[in-house]
Amino acid sequence: MCGIVGYIGKNNAKDVIIEGLKKLEYRGYDSAGIAINQGGKLKIKKHVGGIQNLENLIKKEDMESHLGIGHTRWATHGAPSDLNAHPHVSMDGNIAVVHNGIIENYVELKEMLKKEYSCEFYSDTDTEVIAKLIGVLYEGDLVDAVYKAVDMMRGAYAIGAISASEDDKLVAVRKDAPLIAGIGDGENYIASDIPALLKFVKEIYLIENNETLVVTADKVSIFDENRNPVEREVFHVTWDADAAEKGGYDHFMLKEIHEQPKALEDTLSRRLGEDGLINLDGISMTKDEIENFSKIYIVACGTAYHAGLVGKTLIEKYVKVPVEIDVASEFRYRDPFVDDKTLFIAISQSGETLDTLEALRVAKRKGARVLSIVNVVGSTVARESDDVFYTWAGPEIAVASTKAYTTQLMCLYLLSLHMGLTKGTLERAKYDAVIEELKAVSDKIRLILKDSAKIEKLTKKLYNRDNIFFIGRGLDSAVAYEGSLKLKEISYINSFAIAAGELKHGTIALMAPGTLVISLATQDKLFEKMRSNMQEVIARDADIVSIAKEGNESIEEQSEAVIYIPECADEITPLLSIVPLQLFAYYVAKRRNCSIDKPKNLAKSVTVE
Ligand code: G6P
Repeated sequence: MCGIVGYIGKNNAKDVIIEGLKKLEYRGYDSAGIAINQGGKLKIKKHVGGIQNLENLIKKEDMESHLGIGHTRWATHGAPSDLNAHPHVSMDGNIAVVHNGIIENYVELKEMLKKEYSCEFYSDTDTEVIAKLIGVLYEGDLVDAVYKAVDMMRGAYAIGAISASEDDKLVAVRKDAPLIAGIGDGENYIASDIPALLKFVKEIYLIENNETLVVTADKVSIFDENRNPVEREVFHVTWDADAAEKGGYDHFMLKEIHEQPKALEDTLSRRLGEDGLINLDGISMTKDEIENFSKIYIVACGTAYHAGLVGKTLIEKYVKVPVEIDVASEFRYRDPFVDDKTLFIAISQSGETLDTLEALRVAKRKGARVLSIVNVVGSTVARESDDVFYTWAGPEIAVASTKAYTTQLMCLYLLSLHMGLTKGTLERAKYDAVIEELKAVSDKIRLILKDSAKIEKLTKKLYNRDNIFFIGRGLDSAVAYEGSLKLKEISYINSFAIAAGELKHGTIALMAPGTLVISLATQDKLFEKMRSNMQEVIARDADIVSIAKEGNESIEEQSEAVIYIPECADEITPLLSIVPLQLFAYYVAKRRNCSIDKPKNLAKSVTVE
């Protein structure tokens, strides 16, 4: 998704902005641009493609300046091109604007600007409309013009603006798209995300919806929609810049796969007391509420949704309450059956996914209690929830989510165990047994990672398949969806996951010689059923690679290859079985020379509908 960085202060704005934009590259983008105020004139440079292209473009230019804004664009309105790249400018070239999000009424505004102000447009973007609009409303005061423009706009946005005739400030405004300000010494910053500023500052302000920022070299001021000043607490970022570097790994994705044991230990240890009970510090949900929930919704997108599939099974098993799971983009446009006896669980790595956020708001309006499982501290989903169960995955940079997924699972285990014990639907002995299993998970993942070379070798003969299916039953089917998503996201192989028992109702028509099926067969109690489904596949001459628990050698006769995970209880397997699938996807993509950390067309944080 798009990224914004803005700077004003004692250093060269261009250097700060380029550095910051590079830190946002992982979010996915297709063009980049920068605008600086140089001696009362705006200088604007933009280029399609990577930031390197922009850097090459400005290499020989004099770009010395104390004030500027920059942007990485992920196309929504108009194809990736130099012209559509941000910043965009007002008719007279006096104002430059960068923007994340979508302006819903941009067509009407464009018509109005053409008709009433004879504005001409050179791009297909909605952002150019914002620039032209602020331009025609400008009467010597950028803050005033931004306020007036925002009054006329509908949609979701974070906007940064500078003016040639006001070289002492940059102005930014937020509605439903992330925006932060970085607090420096004789210099200040704006950005769409924390990683952009990690190298420069650790103290930031989190900007809320409908707030406007006026940033000078000495001060960051926040104003509400009525132009009243707002006091904001400083937020201290605890991540260090190194956490966002590759640290010797070829890709962030591989690094993040290897960080899972530690991330899971962190997520577990933050919640587990010496008495073996889960402390819900910062979560105010009471015993009465837990006992009275008549229904639970889990709503999320992408990988987080797949974590929710596991969560549904766990909660129904331990808490004995019906759980509905939905993708956020569907939930928000249905008329979901939510009331004040509903617990709504939103899951989101970034905490900024627009569909998840809007689904959360729908649930809140209908009276649900909202608990979110979120990785990014202080993100919008976290701030708008009644309670937050944080994952301690640290910054996740690769677009394909790995450690966020497994830590989301860990949170769902802990939450469901806690609720079950509190409600009395789960016996203490069973609870203790599962906690012991969870404590052992990180070391078991370390064993799987130690054996990565075997998976790498296996991909040698499989990486050029055209179609790969993932099948499983019970919790294995939930993991099959995530394994398949990992593979298609980064290798671009046509991959499809299905509950194994459903295969015979249609998908089996696609089984043919050369088709590869990854069969997850880790559930002891479903193993015989799974074996029959594998037989159906073999009968159509497709090849099988199985994921099974150590000791299950009988599966070898049905499989081209078996990847074993360490022995564990059936309900724990998702935390382990996903790891070989992440590695499989990674090595297949590597052999296919794909852009692993930044797959084409995808974005890390999807802040548009
Ligand atoms: C994007 C990412 C996925 C992610 C999904 C939900 O599509 O590419 O990896 O699972 O958004 O993101 P969230 O931040 O809400 O977990």
